[in-house]
Amino acid sequence: MPKKSLQTIIAQSTEGGHGFKRSLSALNLVMLGVGGVIGAGIFVLTGHAAAAHAGPAIVLSFILSGIGCAFAALCYAELAAMIPVAGSAYTYAYATLGEFIAWIIGWDLVLEYLFGASTVAVGWSGYVVSFIKDAAQLSPEGTALLQRFASSPLEYKSGVGLVTTGAIINLPAVLIVAACTLLLVRGIRESALFNNIIVGIKVAVILLFVCFGMQYVHAENITPFIPANTGTFGQFGWSGIFTGAGVIFFAYIGFDSLSTLAQETKDPQRAMPIGIIGSLAVVTVLYILVAFVMTGIVKYDQLSDPAPIAVAVNAAGEGLMWLRPFIKLAAIAGLSSVVLVLLLGQPRIFFSMARDGLLPPTFAKMHPRFGTPYVSTILTGVLAAIVAGLFPISVLGELVSIGTLLAFVIVCAGVWVLRHTEPNATRPFKTPYVPVVSTLGVLVSLAQMLALPTDTWLRLIIWMVLGLAIYFGYSRSHSLAGKTN
Ligand code: ALA
Repeated sequence: MPKKSLQTIIAQSTEGGHGFKRSLSALNLVMLGVGGVIGAGIFVLTGHAAAAHAGPAIVLSFILSGIGCAFAALCYAELAAMIPVAGSAYTYAYATLGEFIAWIIGWDLVLEYLFGASTVAVGWSGYVVSFIKDAAQLSPEGTALLQRFASSPLEYKSGVGLVTTGAIINLPAVLIVAACTLLLVRGIRESALFNNIIVGIKVAVILLFVCFGMQYVHAENITPFIPANTGTFGQFGWSGIFTGAGVIFFAYIGFDSLSTLAQETKDPQRAMPIGIIGSLAVVTVLYILVAFVMTGIVKYDQLSDPAPIAVAVNAAGEGLMWLRPFIKLAAIAGLSSVVLVLLLGQPRIFFSMARDGLLPPTFAKMHPRFGTPYVSTILTGVLAAIVAGLFPISVLGELVSIGTLLAFVIVCAGVWVLRHTEPNATRPFKTPYVPVVSTLGVLVSLAQMLALPTDTWLRLIIWMVLGLAIYFGYSRSHSLAGKTN
């Protein structure tokens, strides 16, 4: 099985002529990380996780899931600083575990980035529809029109499969994907600027909620902090905290996409670890605060709502009413930067796979003026728009989580493998306590994968079988690694 040598990979990424422009600083990366992570997880999923699984102890679920992600982030930081290339986990696997595993992980990352962007676009559409309903007195015809053109035409019925809903297309979801794609084609600096503005709005509103909401936290809402288990695994008690951590893992997805920006970052050896670890740290603190204030304002059993922060604001009464429109606006703005950052990761993986010959060369075409991989960016956008226009969030969300966790497993294992195969390579950032941290990263991610439903595993397997067909039908025979190394 061909492997690429570490030296070849690093030389290829630092030589001129790859077409990327190095314009991002460490601060840009932290902002992109925060912009790409805070989204549907906190604005949509937290309520359900608290109401159905953990109660006020959802705070502990956030801490647990954050620790699991920290293991992966530390491993990503080592590899992104050591092998600063756009291919991220795909290329790390190429250097450590060989081409076949690299293909698997490259194909798997489509689930995280492309499907992830589609999932959040569907969440974005949900918020836009509810905003329109709040703002305008819709006639019955207007409501019917929204239903037909702003919701998923397919839904999943357990035991039956996909069924049609009568809707035609989720147009807002398609439009947000299209808008982000255009921005990404235009340039990484422009995208980063847009992201900075969104992050400013999103973080400001979250801090307003935390600071003003704190006064409405009532002890009776958070007592008992860990509600007693109902007798069923995952319904409150400690098992509920763990299940809750699995559900809200989605909220943390996205920090790793920064590693695909290594070839567009100034001084990636220093900036990558700061960006990856820094953004995860900021997000974790914000999540814990939001979860605490939310469950402190309103009893957890009332939080099963797609807009749980708004529920908390309503429950606080007149005092917090002024915050209500800002929350929806922050969610709408905030989710758009998540779509942007996830859509940014995917084309860079495709780019790297095409550079290695595993995908057709057109995927590696760079825009001569904008310095962006525009062909793969547009292709990613078209595919993500089709998925977002047709499928509901329920089918997509867990698939994104399982795909991300598999990438975490391989990256954490990769750190350990490289420590053995390349003990003397330069490591600008070293994951502390290897092999403890890397092993825990593998185990925690695997445990979270195992906790996901069988349906999700089935979809992962189908996806992988499709990937293997492409690998053996095209990529293996076109691979350049076997020929040049
Ligand atoms: N972490 C991202 C979100 O919650 C994917 O929307």
